This record gives sequence, structure tokens and C-alpha cells, in this order.
Amino acid sequence: MTYVHQIGLAELDILARILTKHLVPNTVLLLQGNLGAGKTTFVQSLGRSLGIKESITSPSFTLIDEYWSGRMPLYHSDLYRLEPAAAKELHLELYWQGEFTPGIVAIEWAERLLVLPEQFIQINFAYAIREDERQLTWKAEGENAKLILDNFWQDLSSQIIQAE
Ligand SMILES: Nc1ncnc2c1ncn2[C@@H]1O[C@H](COP(=O)(O)OP(=O)(O)O)[C@@H](O)[C@H]1O
Ligand SMILES: [Mg+2]
Repeated sequence: MTYVHQIGLAELDILARILTKHLVPNTVLLLQGNLGAGKTTFVQSLGRSLGIKESITSPSFTLIDEYWSGRMPLYHSDLYRLEPAAAKELHLELYWQGEFTPGIVAIEWAERLLVLPEQFIQINFAYAIREDERQLTWKAEGENAKLILDNFWQDLSSQIIQAE
């Protein structure tokens, strides 16, 4: 299923709290959409709801940031500055192939990934009609990821989403 909704800043922490109830270690979140569409802001909310103490900044320069102070590790990457060939050199697949402690992998500008995981949740961020909201489009690939997304959406819609 594909799920679409609009969400403002005030509701983002609520969404992240509901999402983290459903996320399990090794979940990959592919974040897509233009500059300013809300990808980093989303990861910051996610980090707070995982209990991460540090402030999460854009990893444009560091390429991959690791946060260990939450309930599970958060690996945050941003491929904005990289051509697909250079993004490949980062070997992000090591994060979902069991080379590191399983955690949540969140990748901004995931459009530039040449190697995709078997399971992932893809969130596309776009501007909404309202300036103080963004439109999020959710999809999943792989059985486990689909189940996580469907369960999350049910939970979310019972709490904050109005019927589309
Ligand atoms: N859901 C949202 N609703 C309204 N404003 C948002 C939302 N998400 C992010 N923003 C605002 O958009 C701006 C850019 O967000 P950012 O997360 O840095 O985008 P990106 O990482 O996609 O380039 C920030 O000023 C942020 O406060
Ligand atoms: Mg960003």
C-alpha cells in the first residue's frame, strides 16, 4: 500500500513516537524529496523519539552520523553531495547486511542509492498546499517492511490522520 498525508511540524513528534513503536533494528528508511522538503527534520523527530540525547544535524559533510544514546543505534546518512557512483563507495549496505550493530538506517537523498536493501520503507517528502505542512508519501518493499508500514499506518490513522 501507498499512504499519503500532510503533516505540520507540531505533529511530527507524535508521528515519530508512533513510528518508533513499530520500528525494529535493521529497518531502513529511504528518505526522498527536494531540498527543504523536511527529511532532516523528520530524522530529528525520529531521534528524539528513540531517546537520542545529542542533537541531530545534517550529515552532508560527515556523510554518515551514528547515534548511540537511544533505544537502538541510529545511522543517518545524506547523499546530497554525492553522485551515485560516489554514494556506492560509502557502502551503506554494510549497515543492513549485518556488519554493524543493527539499528535504524535513515538515508536522505536515497534516490542516489544504486544498491537497495531487500526490505525498506520509502518516504517521499514534498511541499504541501499549506506552507506550514509537508506531504509525505509512504511505501514499503519486502514483507517485513510492508507489515511494519501497514501496522504503523493503522496506529497513526487512529491517532492523528483524518480520513483522506
Ligand atoms: N512537516 C513539516 N511541516 C512544516 N515545515 C517543515 C516540516 N518539515 C520540515 N519543515 C521545515 O522545512 C525546512 C527544511 O527542512 P529540512 O528538514 O532541513 O529539509 P531537507 O532535509 O529535506 O532539506 C525547515 O525550516 C523545517 O522546519
Ligand atoms: Mg536534509
